[in-house]
Amino acid sequence: MLLFGIESSCDETAAAIVEDGVREIADVLATSAKLHELTGGVVPEVAARKQVEFIVPVIAACLAKANVSPDKIDAIAVTVGPGLVGSLVVGVEAAKALAVAWNKPVIPVNHLVGHIYGNFVSGNASAIVFPAVVLIVSGGHTDLVLMRGHGDLEYIGGTVDDAAGEAFDKVARLLNISRYFGGAAISNLAATCKNNTLQGKFPRPMLHDNTFDFSFSGLKTAVKNFVEQNPLADTAAVAREFETAVVDVLVAKTIAAAKKYNAMSILLAGGVAANTPLRTRLNLDAQNIGIPVFVPPLRLCSDNAVYIASAAFFTSDFHNTPRLLSEIKANPSLGVMDRVY
Ligand code: KG4
Ligand code: ZN
Repeated sequence: MLLFGIESSCDETAAAIVEDGVREIADVLATSAKLHELTGGVVPEVAARKQVEFIVPVIAACLAKANVSPDKIDAIAVTVGPGLVGSLVVGVEAAKALAVAWNKPVIPVNHLVGHIYGNFVSGNASAIVFPAVVLIVSGGHTDLVLMRGHGDLEYIGGTVDDAAGEAFDKVARLLNISRYFGGAAISNLAATCKNNTLQGKFPRPMLHDNTFDFSFSGLKTAVKNFVEQNPLADTAAVAREFETAVVDVLVAKTIAAAKKYNAMSILLAGGVAANTPLRTRLNLDAQNIGIPVFVPPLRLCSDNAVYIASAAFFTSDFHNTPRLLSEIKANPSLGVMDRVY
């Protein structure tokens, strides 16, 4: 079964063709990230205009790259939320236009659920055993969910304030090393710190509170206060201690959840899943309790259409109940547990 995926939730415009949820046939992506670096954050209107500019060329390039004729496509999968509404509607309406032109159904996909499928499309689909504990860490969300099967999720915790990626981005801004998505820049700077002279200086919020919730806003403020009071502090050590604090909490809670729910697998997903210390520490700690960890390849951690097509294949009931196109709408404020069909 061939699915044509479309992703346009923020500043990436992506299209992909995926076979049976696991085999990538083609993948094309355009991004307006450089513009948002200039403004020190995404301006929704600018991101939406770029979506409009990119969407048709990206779809055309994807079809050309795959050398697949539209009549071979079985359905169109599209992100309906969460994200920026002006960006989302571009992908959603493009998907509906293709559906009319090709006479195929549209499968709406929750972007957060999509992130999880970066793990399934990359060769591990048959190795992942349920129940799995999934940590979704992106720029806008931090959620721990129990996955009993495809389309069978239970929410077990999440951030009560800032998302993990958001904390990375804010700290990158206050250290003046990146004005937009600064997670990778913080991590690169942290990696240059050979001796963490600030070990234990920053809080590990909610580490011992016996919940599966997170809080990163106070940690960001602690970094801000420290940097203001110590303008000559070694920024590499600040980055390292901040990153270690985030990873300490993310890993400890994920491992605790895996134990409590007798998980057979642990999955990492979302843009922050690209973080090397997070991947390494989670692997090490999970090894100690004998649970395998799955992480997407780096290029499937950040937003793309490959995992959207994969998620649609594994979670949709589209063969039974094709939806009316008028029922498929962008929904900017979806949470990970919100069903989209
Ligand atoms: O999932 P994503 O691509 O977009 C959203 O849906 O939000 O996640 C982007 C987030 C940003 O906050 C970015 O700074 C963070 O992922 N990120 C990282 C790394 N690479 C990207 N955070 C920490 N370490 C990284 N290596
Ligand atoms: Zn995302």
